[in-house]
Amino acid sequence: MKGKRVHIKSFGCQMNKLDTALVTSALRKAGFSLTGSEKEADVVLINTCSVREHAEQRVLSHLGHLKHIKKTRPDMVVGVIGCMAQRLGDKLLEHEAVNIVCGPAQIPRITELVTKALQEKAKSLAVTEKIRKTTEKQNQTLEKFESAYGIEDEQIPGQAFVRAMRGCNNFCAYCIVPYVRGPAVCRPPQAIIEQIKKLADQGVKQVTLLGQTVNSYKYRSGQRTYCLADLLVMASDIKGIEWVKFVTSYPSEEFFDQILQVMADSPKVCNYLHLPAQSGSDKILRAMNRRYSSRWYLELLDKARAVVPDIAIAGDFIVGFPGESQDDFAATVEMVKKARYKNCFIFKYSPRPGTRLWRAGKGLEDDVGAEVKQKRNIELLAVQEKVSDELSRAFLGKEVKVLVEGLSKKPHLNAADSGDNPQLVGRTATDYIVVFNGPESLAGRFAKAKITRTSPLTLFGELI
Ligand code: 5AD
Ligand code: SF4
Repeated sequence: MKGKRVHIKSFGCQMNKLDTALVTSALRKAGFSLTGSEKEADVVLINTCSVREHAEQRVLSHLGHLKHIKKTRPDMVVGVIGCMAQRLGDKLLEHEAVNIVCGPAQIPRITELVTKALQEKAKSLAVTEKIRKTTEKQNQTLEKFESAYGIEDEQIPGQAFVRAMRGCNNFCAYCIVPYVRGPAVCRPPQAIIEQIKKLADQGVKQVTLLGQTVNSYKYRSGQRTYCLADLLVMASDIKGIEWVKFVTSYPSEEFFDQILQVMADSPKVCNYLHLPAQSGSDKILRAMNRRYSSRWYLELLDKARAVVPDIAIAGDFIVGFPGESQDDFAATVEMVKKARYKNCFIFKYSPRPGTRLWRAGKGLEDDVGAEVKQKRNIELLAVQEKVSDELSRAFLGKEVKVLVEGLSKKPHLNAADSGDNPQLVGRTATDYIVVFNGPESLAGRFAKAKITRTSPLTLFGELI
């Protein structure tokens, strides 16, 4: 398919970004070229997210826009890939603009699907019928695709994401992920390490291992069972790799002691934990099918801080889960105050057809009104902002090491402060965002900055 141009638009989490990189790389190898302009594209692919309704609505409205473009360019091929493709399947294929629907477990077929759509103009559906019962063969196909592609793709300079595990077996009552990404499958450690070695050879200095519940990574090979702590050590031993991070963790006993110990012992394993609590109310945690109490969760944070004193912890919360009373919400506020997160992602509950709650026939009981959800969201953000502000202020006057990502997208500083150098953005090992002026050639390299000013989510400094 020489000469055909593909435009890919990506919504959603890091997993999706990684899938986009794999798909891009596979299409490039097949002779397609990538274009940043939708108008010029022969093929438009949208990688979608199903976690909240809002994410799906954005895709649907974009499809409306593409339908309009197709009136003048009927040959343009539109493909929807990702979680929404798996969730809606043929319903999505009925959309006038859509030619291809391809679920996350079917992306190894992307080149074939796109080629066929360009040649035959027919619609095609590639979703996994029994997504919770994937076969060994399906897993092997995904593994082969994963290890072959996505390495040379444009990521942030010097950084790369590597999948440790796919799917999820946790079935939190609100969550669609287990039904669109399938069961938890851990990738062989050799494949992961080989991939990281190749990345390091290409100049990558920081790898982030990905999994929905990455702390539960476990792989039996011969006599040995590998857990996440083993992967972290093996990745740190690779020449050229300086920082190793991992997201997202689930608050369970699984391997936490080992992981924390490795963090404490290895200077390369970054002292950063993304550990969603989702709620501070035990009643709501039970209803969410989360398997811990608020007290146990806070004790886990205490333990983490005892073993790794400078650890930075980030959280996720859902406000307005069905049945969340004012008291339940107050318990969440308490938890956010006590947990002292570096930052928190706060979401308003969004009922998702197909989840546990929905299947139990309770999905429609979205009984916390939109206004209350909004109010709780704002209140919780304000509580977190105060904590974030305090934690950021502690960096004033200190020196930090950052991996520079590139030019800062937002002009945070006054132009007068900028001097001759542009404004750069980097992140510390503990995931703090640092903005400072420096030469653009620092992108993808480590630098040191002295912090002169702070805001809740950003540290500002001077290059040393
Ligand atoms: N509604 C709102 N937020 C959700 N999340 C997952 N499912 C839902 C939902 N149905 C949030 C959780 C999770 C994050 C990725 O998205 O907080 O940690
Ligand atoms: Fe969804 Fe829970 Fe699995 Fe996270 S752990 S992906 S919230 S089911």
